[in-house]
Amino acid sequence: MFFKCLRTIFTRTKKENILLYVGICRRHNQIRILSNAVSFTNRTHTCGSLRHRDVGQTVKLCGWVQYNRGAKFLVIRDWSGITQLIVPSEKNEMQELVKSLTFESVIEVIGKVIPRPEGEANPAMATGDIEVDVEKIQVLNKASQELPIPVTDFQKVNENIRMEYRYMDIRNKQMQRNLRLRSKMIMKIREFLANEHEFVDVETPTLFRRTPGGAKEFIVPSGQRGKFYSLPQSPQQFKQLLMVGGIDRYFQIARCYRDEGAKPDRQPEFTQLDIEMSFVNREGVIKLIEDLMVYSWPEDQSGIDTPFPHLTYDQALRLYGSDKPDTRFDMKIQDITSRCLDCGIQVIDSQLQTGNGSVVAIKIQDKQRHISKKKLEDLKSVALNALNDTQTVLIPIRITEDRAWQSPIAKHLRSEVKDIITSDLDLQSGDLVVLAAGQHFKPHEALGKMRLLLADYLESTGLQIRQKNAFNFLWVVDFPLFLPKEEGEGLESAHHPFTDVHPEDRHMLHTHPDKVRGQHYDLVLNGNEIGGGSIRIHNPDVQKYVLEEVLKEDSSELEHLLKAFTTGCPPHGGIALGLDRIFAIICGASSIRDVIAFPKSQDGRDPMSKAPAPVSQAELDSYHIQIKPESS
Ligand code: AMO
Repeated sequence: MFFKCLRTIFTRTKKENILLYVGICRRHNQIRILSNAVSFTNRTHTCGSLRHRDVGQTVKLCGWVQYNRGAKFLVIRDWSGITQLIVPSEKNEMQELVKSLTFESVIEVIGKVIPRPEGEANPAMATGDIEVDVEKIQVLNKASQELPIPVTDFQKVNENIRMEYRYMDIRNKQMQRNLRLRSKMIMKIREFLANEHEFVDVETPTLFRRTPGGAKEFIVPSGQRGKFYSLPQSPQQFKQLLMVGGIDRYFQIARCYRDEGAKPDRQPEFTQLDIEMSFVNREGVIKLIEDLMVYSWPEDQSGIDTPFPHLTYDQALRLYGSDKPDTRFDMKIQDITSRCLDCGIQVIDSQLQTGNGSVVAIKIQDKQRHISKKKLEDLKSVALNALNDTQTVLIPIRITEDRAWQSPIAKHLRSEVKDIITSDLDLQSGDLVVLAAGQHFKPHEALGKMRLLLADYLESTGLQIRQKNAFNFLWVVDFPLFLPKEEGEGLESAHHPFTDVHPEDRHMLHTHPDKVRGQHYDLVLNGNEIGGGSIRIHNPDVQKYVLEEVLKEDSSELEHLLKAFTTGCPPHGGIALGLDRIFAIICGASSIRDVIAFPKSQDGRDPMSKAPAPVSQAELDSYHIQIKPESS
C-alpha cells in the first residue's frame, strides 16, 4: 500500500557517487530511501562509496583486484571506485591467499571500516579516509596470470586488441563513464518524450525490404529462393506509416544499419533517436529538439543555450565551405571574386572566364610563423584530395614583417588587386592567407577542409583555436531538395526521397527540380552532423512524381507507402538524432566506438567474435546461395 502513494525520483548524491532511489510518500509526507546501487545484490556497499562516516560498520564488498602489495594490502575496484583493504598480520592463511591473488580476480570481502592511520589519508581518493580491516575473503573467480590487456592503462593498447577483449576493456574508467552517461541521457530522453509529451515508443521491424535511394543496405537471405530482406537504414517508412496509423507522436531508440564502412563517426550499425509528429511544421520539430536537448543534457557538462542559431545551406557553404560548420572558431571564408577579375594570374583568370568560377579566401590571423612551408603543402594536398576535383587551386600567401606578400602569385598579381585584397581582408604582418579559385562551390569546399585541417594542426602545436568545452549547436536549413548524382547523370535526393518541397519553391518542382529547396533541416554540433529530418511529402501524386520523374526510381518498391497516403494521411514531419555521435561529443571521445559497448572495427568486423564469419555450404544451400569462386 505504501508504494501506491509513492512518486519515485532518481537522484545522485554528487559528492559520494551513490545512486539512491528516493520515494516521496505524499500521504505520510515522508521521504524514504527505497533502493540504491547495491540493493538486490550480495553486497552492502559499492567499492567507491565508503567514507569516514562509515567507520565502525561491518561491510561486504565485491569487486576486481586492482592491485595487491605483499600480503597485507589489497585494493578492490568496481565501477564506482576503489577501496583499500588491510589484512591483519595474525591471519597467516588469509595473507597467503592475498599473496597468491592475481590482478583482476573477482573477490568478495567482509570486514570492518577503520580510519586510515594518522598522516596516511589520501585526499586524492574518494575513499581515501578509510580502509577495510578484512575479516573474510572469498575468491569468486581467479583471473589468469597472463591477462590480454591491462584494464587501468587502456589508452596504451591498440584499439583492435581492446575490441578483441572488449569485456575487459569495458572495465576501464572511461568506458564505464561513457556507457553510464549514455544510459542516463537515454533515460532522460524517454522521460521527456514519453512522460512529459505523450510520445509513443513503438518498435519497428529490422527485417524489411530495400528502400530506394540513400545508403547501401545490408541484405539478409530468406528461405524463399532469390528473395532477400534488407536491414533498414532507418525506420523512415515505418514512422511515416505510424502517422498514417494515427499514432500522432512516435519515438524509438532505433538500431539502424548501413553498409558504408566504419569511420570515427560512422558505424555499420548505430543508434538513432527517431522521432515523428503529425500536424507539425519545421519550427515545431526544431523547438521540440531544443527543449529535449536542454532537458536531457548531463548536469555535469557546461549548459546549452537555446534557441540554436540557424544558417541556410547556402550561407553555410559560403561562410564555412561545409554543410556542417564547426562554429567554435572564426576563420570564415570571404568572397573576393569581384576583386580578382583579370588579375593577371592565369590559373585564376581561366577559372573566372567560365562565368561559374569564384575566388575565396581564409585568413589565419598572426599564425604564419607556426606553420612551415612543407606542412602547408601537405595540408593543401589533403584538402584537394578530399575534394575529388582537379580544377580547384589553393594558393597560400604569407604576410611578412613589412606587410609584404610572400606567395607564388605575389610577383604576377596586379598591384591594385593586391592592395585591394590587403585592405578587404585587413591583412597584417604575421597573417597567413589561403586563396582558392575554382568552379561553383568547389573553392569554398576546399577552404572548408583547409580551415579544419589548419585548426587541427595549429591545436596539435599547443595553440588554442577552438573555444574550449563549448557545445556549438547549429541548425542548417533550406537544403536543395536534389543534388547532382555523385556518380553518373541525373539527380539524387539531398536527404531522402520523402522530404517535401519548400513551400516557396513548389512551382518549380516540375520545371526546375534542381533549383527547388527542400523542407530538410540538419542539426550540427561542433562541426558534426548529429541529426537530420524533414517535413514529409504526404500527397501520393507528389511522392510518385518525385520517385519516378525526378529520381528515376521504381515506385513499385514503395507501393505500400503510396497506397497508405491515399487512406487519410496527416501532414507530418520528424527527425532522427545520431545518438552515438552526440554521446561521443559529450564524452570528448575521438570516435563513436568509445561510446558503444561492442562496436565494429574500422573494416566493419567484430574482432572479438570474428564476425562476419563463414557458414557451412549446408546452411547456404537452405538459402539457395552459392559462393562464387575468387576471381584470379
Ligand atoms: P540521416 O540519414 O540524416 O536521417 O540520419 C540521421 C542521423 O544519424 C546519424 N548517422 C550515423 N551515425 C553513426 N553511424 C552512421 N553510419 C550514421 N549514419 C547516420 C547522423 C545523422 O544525422 N530517416 C532519416 C531521419 C528523418 O528524416 O527523420 C535519417 O536517417 O547523426
